[in-house]
Amino acid sequence: MQITPLSDNIFYLEPESMANYQACAGLLIEAELKITIDPNLGPDHTGKFLDSQRPDMAFVTHFHLDHSAWVNTAAGMGIIVCVPEAERLILGNLDCLMEATARPCGLESLWRRFVTDSLGFQPLDSATTYHPGILSRLSRVRIEVLATPGHSPGHCSFWFPESGILFCGDMGLDRFGPWYGWHNCDLAAMVESICRLRAMDVRLLVTSHGGIIRKNPAAAWDRALDKIEQREKRIIAGLEKGLSKERLIEEGIFFTHKDKVDEPLKTFFYMWDAIMLDHHLRLIADGGLRRLTGSLNFKSNAGRPSKADQQPAGA
Ligand SMILES: [Fe+2]
Repeated sequence: MQITPLSDNIFYLEPESMANYQACAGLLIEAELKITIDPNLGPDHTGKFLDSQRPDMAFVTHFHLDHSAWVNTAAGMGIIVCVPEAERLILGNLDCLMEATARPCGLESLWRRFVTDSLGFQPLDSATTYHPGILSRLSRVRIEVLATPGHSPGHCSFWFPESGILFCGDMGLDRFGPWYGWHNCDLAAMVESICRLRAMDVRLLVTSHGGIIRKNPAAAWDRALDKIEQREKRIIAGLEKGLSKERLIEEGIFFTHKDKVDEPLKTFFYMWDAIMLDHHLRLIADGGLRRLTGSLNFKSNAGRPSKADQQPAGA
C-alpha cells in the first residue's frame, strides 16, 4: 500500500493491486476528526490499515463491492460507517444487492457466489447515511459531498475547496473509461455528472482506479466523454452494417477481449457488456451523446482530443 500526501492533511491511499475487483484507491483526511473514504486496500490490508489508523468515520462513495467490501470490518471496530442514502438498502441486504445487480440478468446464483466467496460481502448491519452537501460540522477541513450519479444511483464525489482537491471515485478517468454495467446505472446521468465536474476549478483530480491527475483535469474529463462517444460510434456503425446485439456484445462495448478471460469473470463481462449496450441504445434512441451534451449547454473537445489528451490519465 502506498500513501501519498495531497495536502497537509489529505492523503491518497493506493492498494498494491486492484485485481479481481478486490480493492480501490481511497483517501485519509486528518483533522480534528480522522476520516477515510473508500479505504478498500485489499483483503490482506484493509483491516490492518483501519486498525492502525482508527478513523472516526469511514465513507463509501458507492455500493460497488470493490469500494465497499470493508464496511463490516470497520463497523466491527466501532468506526462510524457512512453510506450514500440512496444505496443504504443495497449494502444492508443481500437480496437487495442481487436485485440491484445480477438478478435481472438471470445470473444471480453465479454472482451471489462471487460476491460472498470471492469478495467477502456481508450485509451491513449498522451504518449512518449521508447526503450531498457540506460536511463542515465534521472537520476543520471543509468537505463537500457532490451527487455524481450515473455509475451508480447514489455515487458521490468529495470536494475539498480549500486545497482544490476533487476525489471523484469511479467516474471513469482510468484508461478503460466510464463503466455503466448494471441496470441501475444511468448513462445520461453519468454524462451530466461528468460535465458538471469538468466545469469545476480543480487543482488535483483524484480517482479510484486512475491515480492522481495533476495536469489539465478538463482534458481527462474530455477523454472520458470521448470514450463514451467512440463506443456510441462503434455501435451505430455496427447497427448500420446490420450486426445483431449478440455480435455487438461479442465485439465488445467495454470489454474487448472477453475470450482471454477465465470464468466466472468471462460470464460477468458478457453480462456487463450487454447492459452497457442497452444503455447506449437508449441514449442513441434519445438522439445520442452529442445531443445530450448540447442540451446540457456543454462545450468541450469531446470526440476531438487535443494534444494534452495524449498523456495517460494517471500521469
Ligand atoms: Fe464502481
